[in-house]
Amino acid sequence: MHHHHSHATVKHTHKPPVRRKLINTILMHLHDTELWASHLPRVPKNLSLLALFGFALGAASFSGLVPDSNLLKFSGLGLGILLVLPAILAGLFAVRKWRYASRIRNQIFDSLALRGDEKVLDVGCGSGLLLNGAAMRLTTGKATGIDIWSPHSGGGNLELLWKNARAEGVADKIEFREADARNMPFDDAAFDVVLSSGALHHISHNFDAHERAVREMVRVLKPGGKIAIWDITHMIEATASKMKSLGVECEVKPTTSDLYAVYISSP
Ligand SMILES: C[S@@+](CC[C@H](N)C(=O)[O-])C[C@H]1O[C@@H](n2cnc3c(N)ncnc32)[C@H](O)[C@@H]1O
Repeated sequence: MHHHHSHATVKHTHKPPVRRKLINTILMHLHDTELWASHLPRVPKNLSLLALFGFALGAASFSGLVPDSNLLKFSGLGLGILLVLPAILAGLFAVRKWRYASRIRNQIFDSLALRGDEKVLDVGCGSGLLLNGAAMRLTTGKATGIDIWSPHSGGGNLELLWKNARAEGVADKIEFREADARNMPFDDAAFDVVLSSGALHHISHNFDAHERAVREMVRVLKPGGKIAIWDITHMIEATASKMKSLGVECEVKPTTSDLYAVYISSP
């Protein structure tokens, strides 16, 4: 029994290099798609076109357009279904991802309890999950996003950011600066709230980058301001201990996923 268990553990942590390489390559390319990068559900255009074509093919097979052959009819229908499937799977994935992210986003803003007049910063804002979430809860305040659109980081692009901002009705409450988290173009104590989601594990490819990004977040925060970060659990733990050493009180909250946790500072 015990032997069996440890064997399984070893097998799990030492995946064959080829398989791991393949998974990493797929993940890397997935990060570059709108499907992955957009927090609002968006099915890529080429998948939608493929589905449209598949639907037309299926329909045509059963119209008078093709010779009256069952073989032709059913192979046309089969091929049509195959072509529609990727768009359906992508759509299901996008909607599930959005539901999960918006639930965490609501939890974050419930605990922050914004007044509405704050200056908010979202570090590595990507397609605007927290940036737009903040803007929706602001009245006279302003939400600023920074990003460097680093490749394979799953943040999308400037066009997607504004498309999502318009879709969420916050285009007039946000602003964007192309800027690096490790060296922010802002004065000390410029923001009431500093946010970040899913960005630190892309920024922190080395110890120095993590250190610099966390120091910058604390530097631009007003005394008594609040920080909220949602990321991979080990990244949250490293960030929480760094923030504590910089004198920022904090709380780590697990999410419904083992992999992710939320860090919230309390003044
Ligand atoms: C996984 S995306 C997260 C996007 C968004 N916050 C969300 O939760 O959907 C990570 C983002 O961090 C950005 N990023 C990576 N390194 C950065 C750096 N040094 N400075 C600013 N942004 C960075 C990437 O360009 C990417 O947009």
